[in-house]
Amino acid sequence: MEDLDALTKVTMDGLSFLATLFVFVVGLVALLVVVVFIVDIFQSKDAVRRNFPVLGHFRYVFSKMGEFFRQYFFAMDREEMPFNRAEREWVYASSKGGDNTVAFGSTKTLTPVGTVIFINCPFPTLDEDSVPPPPITIGPHCDNPYETQSIINISGMSFGAISQPAVRALSNGAKKAGCWLNTGEGGLSPYHLDGGCDIVFQIGTAKYGVRTLDGALDLEKLRAVAERPEVKMFELKMSQGAKPGKGGILPAVKVTPEIAEIRGIATHQASISPNGHHEIRNVPQLLDMIELIRETTKKPVGFKAVVGAYGWLDNLCKEIEARGIETAPDFITVDSGDGGTGAAPMPLMDNVGLPVKEALPMVADILTRHGLKDRIKLIASGKLVTPAEVAWAYCAGADVAVSARGFMFALGCIQALKCNKNTCPTGITTHDARLQRGLNPKDKAVRVANFVERVRYDVGVIAHSCGVPHPRALKRYHCRIVQSSGRSIPLDELYPPVAA
Ligand SMILES: Cc1cc2nc3c(=O)[nH]c(=O)nc-3n(C[C@H](O)[C@H](O)[C@H](O)COP(=O)(O)O)c2cc1C
Repeated sequence: MEDLDALTKVTMDGLSFLATLFVFVVGLVALLVVVVFIVDIFQSKDAVRRNFPVLGHFRYVFSKMGEFFRQYFFAMDREEMPFNRAEREWVYASSKGGDNTVAFGSTKTLTPVGTVIFINCPFPTLDEDSVPPPPITIGPHCDNPYETQSIINISGMSFGAISQPAVRALSNGAKKAGCWLNTGEGGLSPYHLDGGCDIVFQIGTAKYGVRTLDGALDLEKLRAVAERPEVKMFELKMSQGAKPGKGGILPAVKVTPEIAEIRGIATHQASISPNGHHEIRNVPQLLDMIELIRETTKKPVGFKAVVGAYGWLDNLCKEIEARGIETAPDFITVDSGDGGTGAAPMPLMDNVGLPVKEALPMVADILTRHGLKDRIKLIASGKLVTPAEVAWAYCAGADVAVSARGFMFALGCIQALKCNKNTCPTGITTHDARLQRGLNPKDKAVRVANFVERVRYDVGVIAHSCGVPHPRALKRYHCRIVQSSGRSIPLDELYPPVAA
């Protein structure tokens, strides 16, 4: 009986405590609402909150939440930008080495202007007649030409823009897959060398990693980089698709002591590269610089640019004709106006620079017209994430394709669009050790290699469907482009053959 009384008392005390707590919490919330109400109607900075006190706050909450939920609940498979779910899922499935086939039917609409349709052959190349793509040689006139067979390689992303485990995963993955890794403009880190893959060293406008104190090119440092056997080529970055006319931007929060040391700059200060090379103000100076780097490094040298104005490319070819074919850049990387970046001003990202779809055939034709198409290898860059995009690039005249964001997806990128914030939830573009924990370089290296293998395989499948034995045999007449009339026309009608 006493036990029962004690139990009843404890229960009543508990209920009474919960009731008091409930009243207290409700009272607190009511008080908070009153305070927020008063603050909202007396503030003058925000019209929505002033006109709709308290309720106005939900607008910001929902806007923020929308960022996270859109891609899961609301966006259709082919809707999002810069990459839609179908494209991302293809990379995820491929990089996991799983089944990357799809069922029932295509979710892709084939009517929008610019859609690429490949021209299948009634007698596709039989498996036994298919061959691996032949290797190409870049820089045949320099002391150490570079030979590569890989039809897809890793585009420049600096250590700084991306994290240490991300660079290590790319390096090891590139080694497994036999493709190259471009350092991006942040210099050469030990992580790039981790896997022992082929490396393309990029020289940006700030010359990070090979700069003198006043920002000029330090030939001694350059020579030291070139002495590394992994470094196969040098890429002079003239411009980048996401921000033509603007230098690299690494926010202060991402300039860790290690990154500052590798770049040769101050710690925790925003790293802003000049918007152009001070010593390259015209075509002859561009060729002079290429020659200087090639002389110093004894390795192939090319440049990366997004095309806007294009008359200068004709002048470049004429200058090469005057100086001799060996003075030509060994490659040109044509970046797309809609390319990616760690951070860029929106107007440049959105509206400046031609997309690679227009620029690549144009540059290929200029080189062909001057008889330089064989000498100067064309590297295509810009949203070449799926096999169809890569195959298009080969049809249009590319000798090699590169991808940056495709490899980010292979590393697990969820397109959170936080590369400029140091808060990347997948650890790829952050130097926050807690967030980097999710990115295991060993596992992700396998994914990088799988992605390369699947792209190679599926681009091969497209080539065979078009009746050629390998992707490098794809020509413009193998694809058609949908026009505003709703009909497609062959790419070689859109960009007719030019005479050398
Ligand atoms: C996070 C990030 C960092 C990048 N850093 C560089 C860089 O240092 N140098 C450079 O030339 N391009 C840089 N890029 C641009 C890519 O190399 C590439 O030109 C562009 O993203 C288009 O290719 P994609 O569509 O395959 O990403 C970067 C891109 C991203 C997404």
